Amino acid sequence: MIRFVHARDYDDMSRKAANIISAQIIVKPDSVLGLATGSSPLGAYKCLAHWYDKGDLDFAQVTSVNLDEYRGLSHDNEQSYYYFMHKNLFSKVNINPERTFVPDGTIVDEVEACKKYDEIIRGTGGVDLQLLGIGHNGHIGFNEPDEVFAKGTHCVHLSQTTIEANSRFFDSIEEVPTQAYTMGIQTIMNAKRILVVVSGVDKAEIVEKAFFGGITPWVPASILQLHRDVTVVGDTQAFSKIMDLI
Ligand code: GLP
Repeated sequence: MIRFVHARDYDDMSRKAANIISAQIIVKPDSVLGLATGSSPLGAYKCLAHWYDKGDLDFAQVTSVNLDEYRGLSHDNEQSYYYFMHKNLFSKVNINPERTFVPDGTIVDEVEACKKYDEIIRGTGGVDLQLLGIGHNGHIGFNEPDEVFAKGTHCVHLSQTTIEANSRFFDSIEEVPTQAYTMGIQTIMNAKRILVVVSGVDKAEIVEKAFFGGITPWVPASILQLHRDVTVVGDTQAFSKIMDLI
């Protein structure tokens, strides 16, 4: 079942999403959170850090597993998702660093890297709340459009549109890695609850396709229509094509 929560703008979307994450942690202090990178969840992370500062939130028992990581980037590379998570959330709250997991982009052997991450996810006992952004082509994590839905953690070749979209974070497009390790679709679908954040008019088309179009691996996010508990928090612009449908 999909619930749509309409937010005024990016800040409103971020606060609403952070409220949902925060409620999850309050109700279940030892929650396993599936976390995402990109600009969509950034505002929510800021809110969570702020509420932690105020003493409203405690991450001491929380475990986190991130969706994805560029293959080949080391932890101290500013473009790595490991670095992003430490900079924007982990260093700002009292989460136990030993209980934060991001796929290890430095493992060259892809079979080993993916197997190791699947074992880590299994070891957490399962994700309680999975946070997701959506790529312009419908990717979730780095699950790119394909003929099939990939199940577990795997190595992907990033599509040209994804490389172009993510090049804004790099000095030049040549520096964007062409491969990544990502949690699989089945792992994402195994999460008890899913929280999607979408903002901006450039996401309006994919939001309509993903949640009101056919379910197909060519639009990976469309699989979310089959999940029992999905909340999509989007701003007016991102919801502009579905306003009459929700
Ligand atoms: C990246 C990430 C995804 C993210 C997506 C959207 O490629 N791997 O996890 O959801 O892009 O990013 P943004 O939120 O910046 O639009």
